[in-house]
Amino acid sequence: MYRTHTCGELNLSAAGKKVVLSGWVQRSRDLGGMTFIDLRDRYGITQLAFNTDTNKALCDEARKLGREFVIQAEGVVAERHSKNNKIPTGEIEIVVDKITVLNPAETPPFTIENETDGGDELRMKYRYLDIRRNPVRDNLILRHKMAQETRKYLSQQQFLEVETPVLIKSTPEGARDFIVPSRMNAGQFYALPQSPQTFKQLLMVAGIDRYFQIVKCFRDEDLRADRQPEFTQIDCEMAFIEQEDILNTFEGLIKHLFRSVLEVEFEGPFPRMTYDEAMGRYGNDKPDIRFGMRIRDLTGIAKGKDFKVFDSAEYIGGINANGCSEYTRKQLDELTEFVTRPQVGAKGLVWVKFNTDGTLKSTIDKFYTEDELKKWGEKFNAKPGDLILILAGGKLPTLKALGELRLEMGSRLNLRNKNTFAPLWVIDFPLLEWDEEAKRFFAMHHPFTSPKPEDFSKLDTTPGDVRANAYDMVINGVEVGGGSIRIHDQKLQKKMFQTLGFTDEEAEAQFGFLMNAFRFGAPPHGGIAFGFDRLTSLFAGLDSIRDVIAFPKNNSGRDIMIDSPAPVAQAALDELSLNVVKKG
Ligand code: AMO
Repeated sequence: MYRTHTCGELNLSAAGKKVVLSGWVQRSRDLGGMTFIDLRDRYGITQLAFNTDTNKALCDEARKLGREFVIQAEGVVAERHSKNNKIPTGEIEIVVDKITVLNPAETPPFTIENETDGGDELRMKYRYLDIRRNPVRDNLILRHKMAQETRKYLSQQQFLEVETPVLIKSTPEGARDFIVPSRMNAGQFYALPQSPQTFKQLLMVAGIDRYFQIVKCFRDEDLRADRQPEFTQIDCEMAFIEQEDILNTFEGLIKHLFRSVLEVEFEGPFPRMTYDEAMGRYGNDKPDIRFGMRIRDLTGIAKGKDFKVFDSAEYIGGINANGCSEYTRKQLDELTEFVTRPQVGAKGLVWVKFNTDGTLKSTIDKFYTEDELKKWGEKFNAKPGDLILILAGGKLPTLKALGELRLEMGSRLNLRNKNTFAPLWVIDFPLLEWDEEAKRFFAMHHPFTSPKPEDFSKLDTTPGDVRANAYDMVINGVEVGGGSIRIHDQKLQKKMFQTLGFTDEEAEAQFGFLMNAFRFGAPPHGGIAFGFDRLTSLFAGLDSIRDVIAFPKNNSGRDIMIDSPAPVAQAALDELSLNVVKKG
């Protein structure tokens, strides 16, 4: 028997008991007459004690054990002299009478402690060592709990977990596909699913009226802190429902997760905001509503004073950075640098200080009188001590830039507390998005999303104004989930493909199977998918989803532990009828 107990469970009630523990040597301390070893396993740490006076040979043996050796220790549980109340086993130690080295270990490339000296890449290369660290292991435990609670809630609501295939055909979620060559069908390729979208809709046609799956999705897109090329969704679909049913059911899921995993309760329903409101007030379709600092529109009152930047702008708007009137030149320059970076894209920053002594100072004193600026202040409810930050330009880009500036100020002012959760639904998204480069519309969500019935008629005249029955759940500025009510009518689906610029033949080749299915009685249906990694990292208070994934990829999409992707042997390429052409 390797162990009678784990390293996390013994306490004073076991004093005097003979036990056997197995685990890794976390560290050892040599205090002259005594040697102590912290023995670690998944469940915790237990102190092993060796006394030179009573057993010198064993003590010498213990001193030779290196970090991360795998050992077995037999001994008796005893009360400790100096107790450690930070860990559950901190009142006891094991007075060891036998140790067995189960496996020695080389010195690990970084210290396996909560605060490690290992950089990101090194920890990714030796991820199995990184997972030995408490914070990483705790993230996996959290992820497990969330998956269990998701299954529990959805199963109670009659959802069936159904697996869908991974070798499929392109699904249009807006990213590039990963493709897989077929040996048996030379020159033909599978695509890995960007989501199980079409399959879950087929399951509705098949009469499985409540489906879910915790499922891997694959998207070949540029990576960021909240994106991985393979990530996990809680993917769901329901039939015979309306948007309201979906919002209620899945608000229930999220509340259940918060309650059961974090013991966080929410009063009343989650707020709902239309896409237009979110953009107009927060410059963002995933607003962080943990703090106010709403965008105010100054277009009407700021024009016509010969300030060219404003006079030529389609839109002028700003935010009130409460209590920031003391910002120094340097701080204001930093903000200007922030808003003019290419990712934010503003041309410059205008500011107005409402000083604590009642005076005003601004970058545009030349063009506006103090009374005029005070009028602006009223829009922002500005008080002495406040700083108004203003941007101008095209409407959408300026709103988005203000949105970024607002988040930056929120961070600088510590208004984005990780232990506060502010969920909301963003609803009424536009159905289509115009792509200036491609000179065509793309589906904002995906091509199976239904337009709002009252906007049907605009599909032919002003497609850009058509709103969709589409919704996102947003928490703390993170889009944790999104979905829509689907088109279940064959003719409308055909029209949608046309609006998106598919010829009938292209639509048939790509989605004929779905259109065909709709000929055989498709129920009204809709669904949603949550980004499981994003949800878990949010619950864990982390900024990157990598930390909640056991074996993540780096920003170049590489798994540096197994060194993948990698070339394959010529024979394998031949078998697949593939030629690799070197670029450049
Ligand atoms: P959508 O594309 O909005 O919808 O994806 C749903 C949720 O998945 C998460 N997500 C990601 N997480 C990590 N890395 C990525 N690369 C990544 N891409 C998306 C986000 C997002 O909200 N089939 C539809 C759902 C539906 O209509 O039912 C879909 O996939 O949290």
